[in-house]
Amino acid sequence: MYRSRLDGKLDDVTLEFLSSISDDSAIAQYDILGSQAHTLMLLENKIINKQEAAKILHALEKLKENIPEKSEAEDIHELIESLVIKNAGKEAGGKMHTARSRNDQVALDIRMKIRDDINMTCFCLNQIIETLVDLAEKNKHVMMPLYTHMQQAQIGLFSHFLLAYADALFRDLDRFYVAYGRVNESPLGAGPVGGTSIPIDRHSTAKMLGFKGLVENSIDATTSRDFVAEYLSNAAILMTNLSRMAEDFIIWSTSEFSFIELSDRFTSSSSVMPQKKNPDVLELVRGKTSQVIGYQTAVLSSLKGLPSGYNRDLQQVKVSIWPTSKIIISSLLVVNSLLKTMQVNEKKLRQAIDGGYSISLDIAEALVRKGIPFRNAHKVVGNLVQIASHSKKSLLAMSVDEMKTVSSDNEINAKELHDIIQSTTPESSLDTRKSQGSAGKYEQQRMIDNRKRKVQAYAIGTNKRTNEVRGALDVLHNNVMSLDKSKS
Ligand code: ARG
Repeated sequence: MYRSRLDGKLDDVTLEFLSSISDDSAIAQYDILGSQAHTLMLLENKIINKQEAAKILHALEKLKENIPEKSEAEDIHELIESLVIKNAGKEAGGKMHTARSRNDQVALDIRMKIRDDINMTCFCLNQIIETLVDLAEKNKHVMMPLYTHMQQAQIGLFSHFLLAYADALFRDLDRFYVAYGRVNESPLGAGPVGGTSIPIDRHSTAKMLGFKGLVENSIDATTSRDFVAEYLSNAAILMTNLSRMAEDFIIWSTSEFSFIELSDRFTSSSSVMPQKKNPDVLELVRGKTSQVIGYQTAVLSSLKGLPSGYNRDLQQVKVSIWPTSKIIISSLLVVNSLLKTMQVNEKKLRQAIDGGYSISLDIAEALVRKGIPFRNAHKVVGNLVQIASHSKKSLLAMSVDEMKTVSSDNEINAKELHDIIQSTTPESSLDTRKSQGSAGKYEQQRMIDNRKRKVQAYAIGTNKRTNEVRGALDVLHNNVMSLDKSKS
């Protein structure tokens, strides 16, 4: 339809190469809504008349249910315009593309799609965080070893681990939440690159489509895809967090650890080994994370060398967005269900503590509270652990005489050291751990209550935004329908 200055048709292979039709189904509905808002604005500003607007709007409304999948058009914008012209006639339909370009159109469609995807992602993120906080509340007395270098480090609580994931996911939620403001601006009316002489009203279309403002500069509006890069970067960071969490759960569900048991509904079996119960869902979270990082890299490398103004390379940016949204939303949904059905093996977690020396720092800190310099306390307890582990004993089982061998040249009294060890237990460790954000017993409930309030606040904000967009589009629909009726 647009080839009047060119000779000849595109051959099939070239058309297939050029066309984005197969990638455009994700934005077809947004393209129609954008065209409806643009048409109503043309009418408002007397650029087209009421009959023409009604014909265009009627044709667009009909297309909502029935957009052909195959066509000779190079993209969804050409396809929809050609179908509107076919249905509404050249006189009316031919006016729909007044004062706009596919360049502002495609930027608009992508922004509308990402806006919805961000709201959905925020909703799913908030749900999974809520699950983690609820699980933390249920497991706030369940002790476990905390690890560094995958070696037992300190006594901790299962709730503390879950709250750590919740906090990482809160940051992801916030990254999407804040990025929304930069996405929710309308590029429509920027034209091909430099604007238009036709007296359009950009604020009117922005309002009709529920945008908070404009991407004002027409070059910026049509060229920039940094909002896409930002969305995909947030997605890559989110998936990296989910993947790390998946890795912890994979390790903990091994028969060697058995800290947790995944529900059968979220595991797979082997075609050959009848005993197998594999954590495939979690492995796929890791696997899909690599893909999302790939999509983010693809977009950044497309953008870094592009000259200003629309270039067709930008068409390829779209294809990284749709699968990313699908991966992040489905990962959040599946992991949320997996968490809700997972069993925590309290006994195994306790055994892991009792078999190790993660109480050591608590003993050293008890000595510090008695006035011993930390470095001396560290040395004495380190020596004790060395002796105990050589003789495969627990610290509790060591005698006062054995204490003497490590405390003789120090200011630490062997009997006193023995008493400290006898009274230092995993329970006392968690009672005395008071620093803010620690695994300490009292910190858990405080953090749980605080995070619950945060979940509520984000839920209110996300709902409000979703309703604002929905509300604007409902008004748009009513305006389209009332004009449609006035035509018949
Ligand atoms: N199919 C194009 C895309 O997805 C739409 C914009 C085309 N504009 C142009 N001037 N060729 O990016």
